[in-house]
Amino acid sequence: MKKTVFITGGSRGIGAATVKKFYDNGYNVAYTFFNTPEEKLPLLNSERVLCFKVDVKNSKELTSAIKKTIDCFGTIDILINNAGISEFSLFTDISDEMWESMISTNLSSAFYSSRAVLKHMINKKSGVILNVASMWGEVGASCEVHYSVSKAGIIGLTKALAKEVGLSGIRVNCVSPGLIETDMTSHLSNDDKSSLIDETPLNRIGVPEDIANTLFYLASDEASFITGQILSVNGGFII
Ligand code: NAI
Repeated sequence: MKKTVFITGGSRGIGAATVKKFYDNGYNVAYTFFNTPEEKLPLLNSERVLCFKVDVKNSKELTSAIKKTIDCFGTIDILINNAGISEFSLFTDISDEMWESMISTNLSSAFYSSRAVLKHMINKKSGVILNVASMWGEVGASCEVHYSVSKAGIIGLTKALAKEVGLSGIRVNCVSPGLIETDMTSHLSNDDKSSLIDETPLNRIGVPEDIANTLFYLASDEASFITGQILSVNGGFII
């Protein structure tokens, strides 16, 4: 049977590159989208692709998409928690609503989807969960405290869950990107980008494929002895 991957936020950026990577390697792919126009969605017309409009803040919508994927493809082998938002704000200007939206989009969503898929993975005693964090979750970013906290939470979720489900044959890992060229970073000026490139030992900004390739590796059997790890993909920006 073909393997199946479920990817949140697969409509653009890192998620879309990840959808394409797994699809090109023969997987069935299910992904969620939220605020990307339908005509821009990747691989809409393939019978190996399912796509769901889901607000990842909504546990019921996410759980239902996961159930429909298992009903259609018979399994989910890999879950990738990628959907996320970022926002700049002075700490004292972060409203309750901004805080709650950040934590539920970036962190609670990974809890909802992991819980939903684990019931299935534990039964079959195999599976891989991959979370997308951020280097700011590792070291913290000024004016992005709520974002940094959500990503630090993802790192904690990865480590704790890896310990709990390892004996069930399930691996849980995390990719922690540095600056990647996507809609999320499109607000940066060329000057901002140049100075960030200057601070990066590998002297470039990342592309979505840098993260997709790492996720693909961590999902593969070549990574079969890796769990609970945070793999930083940032060109050496933080070491
Ligand atoms: P993007 O803005 O291009 O894509 C974000 C994806 O998340 C989209 O598919 C969007 O529809 C989805 N999404 C956002 N809110 C949602 C919601 N409420 N419900 C369902 N889906 C929702 O951003 P990018 O760069 O591709 O980000 C992907 C992940 O990588 C995010 O978790 C982000 O925090 C993380 N990341 C990105 C970095 C970058 O420099 N681009 C750096 C570090 C981490």
